[in-house]
Amino acid sequence: TERTLVLVKPDGVERKLIGEVLARIERKGLDLVAIELRTVDRELAAQHYAEHDGKPFFESLLEFITSGPVLAAVAEGPRAIAAWRQVAGGTDPVEKAAPGSIRGDFGLEVQYNLVHGSDSPESAAREIKLWFPNL
Ligand code: GTP
Ligand code: MG
Repeated sequence: TERTLVLVKPDGVERKLIGEVLARIERKGLDLVAIELRTVDRELAAQHYAEHDGKPFFESLLEFITSGPVLAAVAEGPRAIAAWRQVAGGTDPVEKAAPGSIRGDFGLEVQYNLVHGSDSPESAAREIKLWFPNL
């Protein structure tokens, strides 16, 4: 079994898609082991997206992710990391995300792609520690 970090980004919260996202996670069969609504400060955002520091979209990404409340959760199950990325869809909601995925169904722009999922066991461990240090 495996754990992954789930975020509903500020655009997803603003568009009232929290219920939709949680329903899809549950329908897939993953277990929710932690869940929290919170506002993200710049420090947490920069640590979370450290791998993108220096890229042209980094500043805009930090501004976006700190712009309103975010739902953070930890989902658990067999191959949870890949399973959640499949449910979420590819990074670009139009070019990469398949119809039927969250991003494919609800997204239009690469930055405003509604959700986040850890991309490897190493990322998952790092991100879960960052967002849920007591877990
Ligand atoms: P996350 O689950 O959020 O990490 O998405 P990802 O793993 O599918 O994509 P990646 O880690 O490469 O990028 C992180 C986030 O940065 C994306 O989800 C987008 O919100 C944003 N992003 C990625 N590429 C671009 C880009 O070219 N332009 C802009 N404006 N934002 C981008
Ligand atoms: Mg990523």
